[in-house]
Amino acid sequence: MGKTLTFLGIESSCDDTAAAVVRHDDGRAAAILSSVVAGQSAVHAAFGGVVPELAARAHVEKLDRCAEAALGEAGLRLEDLDGVAVTAGPGLIGGLLAGVMFAKGLAAGAGLPLIGVNHLAGHALTPRLTDGIGFPYLILLVSGGHCQFLVVRGAERFTRLGGTIDDAPGEAFDKVARLLGLPQPGGPAVEAEAAAGDPARFALPRPLLDRPGCDLSFSGLKTAVLRARDEAAARDGGLRRQDRADLCAAFQAAVAEVLAGKARRALAAFLAERPAEPVFAVAGGVAANGAVRSALQAAAAAAGARFLAPPLPLCTDNAAMIAWAGIERFRLGHADDLALSARPRWPLDTAAPALVGGGRKGARA
Ligand code: KG4
Ligand code: ZN
Repeated sequence: MGKTLTFLGIESSCDDTAAAVVRHDDGRAAAILSSVVAGQSAVHAAFGGVVPELAARAHVEKLDRCAEAALGEAGLRLEDLDGVAVTAGPGLIGGLLAGVMFAKGLAAGAGLPLIGVNHLAGHALTPRLTDGIGFPYLILLVSGGHCQFLVVRGAERFTRLGGTIDDAPGEAFDKVARLLGLPQPGGPAVEAEAAAGDPARFALPRPLLDRPGCDLSFSGLKTAVLRARDEAAARDGGLRRQDRADLCAAFQAAVAEVLAGKARRALAAFLAERPAEPVFAVAGGVAANGAVRSALQAAAAAAGARFLAPPLPLCTDNAAMIAWAGIERFRLGHADDLALSARPRWPLDTAAPALVGGGRKGARA
């Protein structure tokens, strides 16, 4: 049995500066002692997307205050820690560098071990932090920057069953919101509009659903919404409120159906391995969507798998997942030193073929 470990986690790979303290008594449930997230939406609001240079500067300004707040909320001092974990990739290079440099200084100054963590591993290992589940399990990471099915076999062993070949679903929600004049982030805005809409009025495609495998595509769906919007506007002399609601409902239904269809395939592949207690988990901002969540839950139930969705603050970007992934890596004997470098691209499954488009932008993870 290993000793109790208390780690500070640092996250700055996109537009959230975050710090958290997690304690783990080996053999017991982990405890999140604090989790501080400072967003940057005001910094980027005028630009319609994250501006990398502004994001990096904002991280530099906020990192020390976030870390101080996380330690303060946990009632701990630096010397009470057993290690510092930091997101070293994938993500925006400026933000990653800010976090890695900050963590290096902190760890070196306090004489603590330093662990570089893959941001996607942080998301993928979250169900172990929240629910203490064992390996292996299936997870769908679905957010503004990523969309992939992974079998999580160990803290450093992942098999990618498939992923998006172009946009991530959250990105598609955000673009559709822009097309329809709705505010950002688009997901919650589209979901709210969809509540008053008829999902059957506009026929939208179900990209790649007819093809084998677990790969997904969302950019054609967004283009189909654009076309349907223009047709409706031309017919009615402008886009009416009901048109917008119906388009949102149709788009949301298409995303949910595609994700659930591919989830059924991923579940079948995973269950063929005969896991003892099959779990299908989901993480990422899009998991907040009610229609998506219930479609995925239904897919899990039909396959006889337990469905797990971490609480929303732990589904979206946070540093508790980074502290936890750091503890997991540390228990495997992994430690970094001052040579740790930031990696804008860092696939979890290095044996899987490179994503054609999904990871290309590398901006939001
Ligand atoms: O995981 P996350 O907070 O950040 C990263 O992408 O890293 O996910 C944010 C994404 C955004 O694209 C947002 O529009 C989407 O998740 N999202 C939603 C909902 N809430 C957030 N998409 C659909 N429905 C929602 N309710
Ligand atoms: Zn993320």
